[in-house]
Amino acid sequence: MTNVIDEIFELFARYGSGGYGEDISIERHMLQSATMAESLGAPEKIVVAALLHDIGHFLPAAGEVSVHKGRDIEHAGLGAAWLSRAFDEDVTAPIALHVRAKRYLCAVEPGYFEQLSDASRLSLAVQGGVMSVDETEAFAKEPAFEAALIVRRCDDRGKEVSTQTQDLESYRGLLTASLHQRN
Ligand SMILES: [Fe+2]
Repeated sequence: MTNVIDEIFELFARYGSGGYGEDISIERHMLQSATMAESLGAPEKIVVAALLHDIGHFLPAAGEVSVHKGRDIEHAGLGAAWLSRAFDEDVTAPIALHVRAKRYLCAVEPGYFEQLSDASRLSLAVQGGVMSVDETEAFAKEPAFEAALIVRRCDDRGKEVSTQTQDLESYRGLLTASLHQRN
């Protein structure tokens, strides 16, 4: 069986240089998100979640990054499901929830929507729009609620053209250490 870490590296190598509606490649975006999580002092599992949060865009069902063509390909759930064979919920749940976290923050945090990138504002509508009050109350009860908000804020801030990061290789040890025990 192919090692999941090798598969992650292959996905980044194959699709990471692609755009996704922002000014930087999706690989740089994910690396910047991980760097942001580290700079916030987030737990290692959240750093891994930030690093892998958009991996759903790389998976075969996605084919190509399509959310900005008006179709949300459910990359959050897709990525979390794919990763769940190798990583536990500390990693996968914030990934699964990171789009809902945007919809939540748009509903509860004044000024949040305005600071989103153009692409992220554009995708909000196809992702379900701003949460209703009922939806925010339900979302706040999710076990991974706090972790999802951290990953979301790292996602939002990881889109800087001028910011340099470590490469993916530098995270190999952390990724390997974060695999759940049956791997
Ligand atoms: Fe992202």
